[in-house]
Amino acid sequence: MSSGSGYKLVKLACGVHSVHSLAERETFHPVIGPVAEAEALYVKQVRIVERLRAHAKKSREEFVIWDVGLGAAANALTVLRALREVPAQIRLVSFDHTIEPLRFALSHAAQLGYFDGYETVAGQLVQTCDHALTFPNGEQTVRWQVHLGDFPALLTQSPARELPKPHVILFDAYSPAKNPAMWTLPLFMNLFRLLDPSRPCALPTYSRSTILRVTLLLAGFFVGAGHATGEKEETTIAANARELVTEPLDLVWLDRARRSHSAEPMHEAVYRQAPLSEESWERLRQHPQFK
Ligand SMILES: C[S@@+](CC[C@H](N)C(=O)[O-])C[C@H]1O[C@@H](n2cnc3c(N)ncnc32)[C@H](O)[C@@H]1O
Repeated sequence: MSSGSGYKLVKLACGVHSVHSLAERETFHPVIGPVAEAEALYVKQVRIVERLRAHAKKSREEFVIWDVGLGAAANALTVLRALREVPAQIRLVSFDHTIEPLRFALSHAAQLGYFDGYETVAGQLVQTCDHALTFPNGEQTVRWQVHLGDFPALLTQSPARELPKPHVILFDAYSPAKNPAMWTLPLFMNLFRLLDPSRPCALPTYSRSTILRVTLLLAGFFVGAGHATGEKEETTIAANARELVTEPLDLVWLDRARRSHSAEPMHEAVYRQAPLSEESWERLRQHPQFK
């Protein structure tokens, strides 16, 4: 079902609906569906409810979540729903270069299911000219802002330094083959530089590829195996603090990466696969994770 918007609704084999981009020919949450994937990757794995509780006990500051690739807002809304019992202040900062998937998804809210109770909030977010709003979410207040624009470019611009520093980053771009600009080493280096070293931040994402993991390590993150999602038997979690990575990649992984035909990060927005360069290998070996 397409509405001429560039997106269509697809019914997955598991019976739930998801959004599909006609231009990219990719389904947003292709196997287990939007809610199950978001719960596995961004709620349970990050122990986000426990983290928010611990944060709210110690501090009245906002708990900051970056949502990279807002898309149809399944990740953002699943996380908000999971957190709503915790009295706290939430700042949700979403990034996308288009609001259209959200507009499309809202017009199919009943089939998608996950908007349940958030239709008004999502509708306001689409309609307000600055795509920003403050609203009550159960026990908490949420400030939600969408930054529309090219994410890799935004990270290089000085206003990015004014963005609130995240505690968690939900990283959900299209696949590297379709969307290489969102998976380059310069992008993750810029992202890492924007973090506050004194604020532990976790970045889970759905890929477990060696290229991605090398990229995250060379950008400065600690990197570990992430939970299965039902679609993938393993995903990836990165963080600027070692304690947020419970299953860090080890020397066995490092040895496999050295021998892999597909491990060198993409240095520019062109998809290609190559073994590790000598320079990358040297830098990887020096990473504190492997000391
Ligand atoms: C897989 S979809 C995200 C799905 C979304 N997280 C959800 O829960 O519905 C990937 C998103 O990344 C966005 N995107 C792709 N390239 C981008 C770029 N260069 N800058 C900003 N957003 C981008 C796309 O517009 C798309 O909405």
